[in-house]
Amino acid sequence: MATPIPINRPVRVALVGVGKICDLTSRAYTQSVEAEVVGLCDPDSENLERRGRQFPDAARFSSLDDLLQSSIGIDMVEIGVPTPMHCEVACRVLDAGHHVNLQKPMATSLDEADRMIAASHASGAALRVMEPFIFFEPLETLKAVVESGEIGDVAGFHMKMVGTGLGGWDVPWSTLSWQFRQMQDKGLGILVFDDGWHKFAVANWLFGPVAEVMAWVGQTKFSDEIVIDAPATIMWNHVNGVRGVFDLTLAPDTYMRSKYYSSDERFEVTGTKGFARVNHCVAYGLNQPSLEVYSGGVMRSYHELDDDWGTSFVRQTEHYLRWLRTGEGELVLDASKSREVLSFVLAAIESSKQNTPLRLSAAV
Ligand SMILES: NC(=O)c1ccc[n+]([C@@H]2O[C@H](COP(=O)([O-])OP(=O)(O)OC[C@H]3O[C@@H](n4cnc5c(N)ncnc54)[C@H](O)[C@@H]3O)[C@@H](O)[C@H]2O)c1
Repeated sequence: MATPIPINRPVRVALVGVGKICDLTSRAYTQSVEAEVVGLCDPDSENLERRGRQFPDAARFSSLDDLLQSSIGIDMVEIGVPTPMHCEVACRVLDAGHHVNLQKPMATSLDEADRMIAASHASGAALRVMEPFIFFEPLETLKAVVESGEIGDVAGFHMKMVGTGLGGWDVPWSTLSWQFRQMQDKGLGILVFDDGWHKFAVANWLFGPVAEVMAWVGQTKFSDEIVIDAPATIMWNHVNGVRGVFDLTLAPDTYMRSKYYSSDERFEVTGTKGFARVNHCVAYGLNQPSLEVYSGGVMRSYHELDDDWGTSFVRQTEHYLRWLRTGEGELVLDASKSREVLSFVLAAIESSKQNTPLRLSAAV
């Protein structure tokens, strides 16, 4: 049976899959009074040992079976296993009655997403997919500016991402290799599907569900094993009529300053009276204010927003913990919104394969 919400004490959390991104997902838990990490689970002994040093009081498990059969008392599981394993691991955790904070992308197919949603309904445990970008303060402020009407009615939305291998933190081969296999096995690549998820989620969060999408997803081969799903250009219409474009370019020899991944990003909403643009997110490609707003002939720059992408991981976890502790307010992103995002990204990839625009209800 699932722990009833609200949870009137610190949430007891187990971290399952404690690889690279756990460097950021674990941050919130090292400083939170709302939660306590009671369990760590990973078959990789080095990763388990490293996290064990970070959370010395947590019990360690090398298999999910052992964790789920233990009596440590868990309310919520933070799942950070490779994406192709999300469905299997999340269903078992939900079946055991534990709430879930799942890494993005939600799943590799809508069928997998539906199985997880069914498991959540059956046990009553909550299924939430984490999304740091929508907790990134410059993007939150851009949304508020757009909704204030300052730039007029929304006329269009443009996102840009430049991928490069130079700059940022080190990513071990064990982390990259399953991503490249996922591309080979399922055609779901590291830029459009895995990283692109963030951008599709931002579009959905700003302007709601998508009616129709058209994409050209190219491939760049670096070796038999390493194939990148770029360059890519993706165009869509939201149900509310807003037109969006996401353009993704590879510039492998460009250095990009970053504390995290070396992806350079831009988000720009054009209104009938001006525009609002976020100049960087994960990396610092443009050393300009994180948000600029042009309206009425005047350019306004935001210099004080927290533009450290790592902070948005802490904030998204705090949001979920608050929701579990109070049961109040809207949970972002809940499972059904996440399924909409999944349907959007899969339809984009499918439309490129078929070389035709796809309506979302009929797409995948
Ligand atoms: N939110 C973001 O910005 C972001 C960034 C990078 C990755 N991710 C997502 O996070 C997830 C993990 O990515 P990563 O980069 O940390 O990969 P990773 O390979 O570094 O880490 C995955 C970990 O899961 C462990 N694992 C595998 N099977 C397991 C099982 N059955 N039970 C427990 N642990 C198991 C592995 O041993 C490894 O330590 C993926 O879904 C990825 O797409 C999200």
